[in-house]
Amino acid sequence: MVNYKELGLVNSKEMFKKAIEGKYAVAAFNFNNMEQMQAIVQAAVETKSPVILQVSSGARKYANQTLLRYMAQGAVEYAKELGMEKPQIVLHLDHGDTFELCKSCIDMGFSSVMIDGSHHSYEDNITLTKKVVEYAHQFDVTVEGELGVLAGVEDEVSAEHHTYTRPEEVIDFVTRTGVDSLAISIGTSHGANKFTPAQCTRDANGILVPPPLRFDILEDIEKLIPGFPIVLHGSSSVPQDLIAIINKYGGEMKDSIGIPEEQLRKAATSAVCKINIDSDGRIAMTAAIREFLALEPTKFDPRQYLAPARETLKKLYMQKINNVLGSANKA
Ligand code: G3H
Ligand code: 13P
Ligand code: ZN
Repeated sequence: MVNYKELGLVNSKEMFKKAIEGKYAVAAFNFNNMEQMQAIVQAAVETKSPVILQVSSGARKYANQTLLRYMAQGAVEYAKELGMEKPQIVLHLDHGDTFELCKSCIDMGFSSVMIDGSHHSYEDNITLTKKVVEYAHQFDVTVEGELGVLAGVEDEVSAEHHTYTRPEEVIDFVTRTGVDSLAISIGTSHGANKFTPAQCTRDANGILVPPPLRFDILEDIEKLIPGFPIVLHGSSSVPQDLIAIINKYGGEMKDSIGIPEEQLRKAATSAVCKINIDSDGRIAMTAAIREFLALEPTKFDPRQYLAPARETLKKLYMQKINNVLGSANKA
């Protein structure tokens, strides 16, 4: 058993308080390997931003949970080596689905966990979330719960349709569970195909325009639980220039569409203080690797294509921090 404080990590409590007061949001970027972790830390250091390193169950299976934990510990030391005196880094479990998984992460040094009971009945969600909160708070670990269902794929759980968060449930849910932050469903979804073309309209140039986020629901929630930290999942924007590179060099990503960055920028100025971005990073790496391999067919050293992929990823993260979330210079 190791407490996250021994690893130099922080929980999300102060981070979210400052984000709400300062009208910005902190990025939660998923990582599964060394290059992603390096890009996240480099971007956080260069922008002087707090950051949340997220690990999904899929990441734990892919990369080994112990290795990921030591990489997060390494991330703190790496940030210091890059010149950040006091790195503000949270190690967070993304979409934890059982008490046992959350407990295992808390016991091995995570500073924050998500218990995603959104696929259960309302009462079962409360029971499960409360159990995780009671365990986590003994160790000062912060807990994110979820109300409402996002469409798309999250680990092995996939939902074809979303269910918006019902504002009338939020006071009861946060009071009875004791969660520290609440993920809500207002029209974002996971993955690179967030909307079907039938759900979109087209602008004058024929470009697909997705339906807007339900800011009315967000505002209702903010009125009911003022100052309570809100989380948005499924917040990749699916940059079309990167999709074009992927498709130019042999990819087949059709009808890919994300959440427009202006809408995320607006959300970041509200009580939304954590914005989850994973797919955009995957797209950035894939675009860079496809381009490199297509243009340099004789090269075979993974470092030669992973280095430009890592650089593309870092630029994407810095762009998000600087222009979308507004968390630069807040660490
Ligand atoms: O919400 C899902 C995240 O993008 C993690 O995805 O389960 O494939 O690692 P993953
Ligand atoms: P995206 O698929 O939109 O990047 O969402 C990531 C996410 O919500 C991770 O929990
Ligand atoms: Zn998610």
